[in-house]
Amino acid sequence: ALITLRQLLDHAAENGYGVPAFNINNMEQGLAIMEAAEACDAPVILQASRGARKYAGDIMLRHMVQALAEMFPSNHIVMHQDHGNNDATCLSAIRHGFTSVMMDGSLEEDMKTPASYAYNVEITRRVTTAAHAVGASVEGELGVLGSLETGEAAAEDGSGAEGKLSHDQLLTDPDQAVEFVMATKCDALAIACGTSHGAYKFTRKPDGDILSMETIRRINEKLPNTHLVMHGSSSVPQALQDLINANGGHMPQTYGVPVEEIERGIRMGVRKVNIDTDCRMAMTGQYRRIAQEMPEEFDPRKFNAPAMEELRALCRDRFERFGTAGQA
Ligand code: G3H
Ligand code: 13P
Ligand code: NA
Ligand code: ZN
Repeated sequence: ALITLRQLLDHAAENGYGVPAFNINNMEQGLAIMEAAEACDAPVILQASRGARKYAGDIMLRHMVQALAEMFPSNHIVMHQDHGNNDATCLSAIRHGFTSVMMDGSLEEDMKTPASYAYNVEITRRVTTAAHAVGASVEGELGVLGSLETGEAAAEDGSGAEGKLSHDQLLTDPDQAVEFVMATKCDALAIACGTSHGAYKFTRKPDGDILSMETIRRINEKLPNTHLVMHGSSSVPQALQDLINANGGHMPQTYGVPVEEIERGIRMGVRKVNIDTDCRMAMTGQYRRIAQEMPEEFDPRKFNAPAMEELRALCRDRFERFGTAGQA
């Protein structure tokens, strides 16, 4: 059944586990993620970006999620708007059956310049009031996701923001986080701890200098009733980079967030773990392999079936390691 983010993350906090939030925009992803959730007896957050809504269409997404809820009746599902940019995006999502929205006021609407704190508080407070009035949950964001390695912020499309950011902007300040939640009443808070979106997060395996799980501990200590969210949580597995590159791909060597770091983050209070890039790579690795190994093949299902199997395996692994398995 569909539930709200607040309902799911309250349970996760009480029981000390994390929940992956997987991005979806098509049926194959939805089925593969839910089959994994069913196999692990896990609840799950499905999320759609603005781009995903445009790609699939709101009516298609709404019916797809309802179909998944009907097909997998024993799993709790949250349907969440990923990176809502304004009131209209968030409220139209709720109208289309989303039970939760992210109001990302951390960047101005053009998604290029870090927003002022006042702008972020005002727009997040406004969306939270409206969402709570109709029973939906809200995730806010404080701090700009960006690389501590380069000082560059990355916009959600992976393009760089203008100029370099200071360490202060790249790590959420715990006192400001408390003030932000008091003022906005948001249910969950995305924080900046050194992760960034996309495949190219780090040029080496990250250590405490460029990935700060300590930031999470400090914020969680002061905000026990607000659920912390880690964006940019793909691990960019070496095996998937290798599979893609062995089959005609050209992905330069890169490093993501090691799963053991996410496990540490969950112990320090992270409850929602956003993953998109890994899911894309899992499917694309198999699409490339089939294209290479079976050049005579032209039935899309012959490509989709192994892609879904690879995605299922990835999701099962995350459910198990995040402690979501068995909590359906
Ligand atoms: O945060 C961004 C998500 O990975 C969604 O990406 O806007 O390309 O759908 P997208
Ligand atoms: P990745 O690009 O690391 O998968 O992060 C996805 C994300 O944060 C979506 O909001
Ligand atoms: Na941001
Ligand atoms: Zn994100």
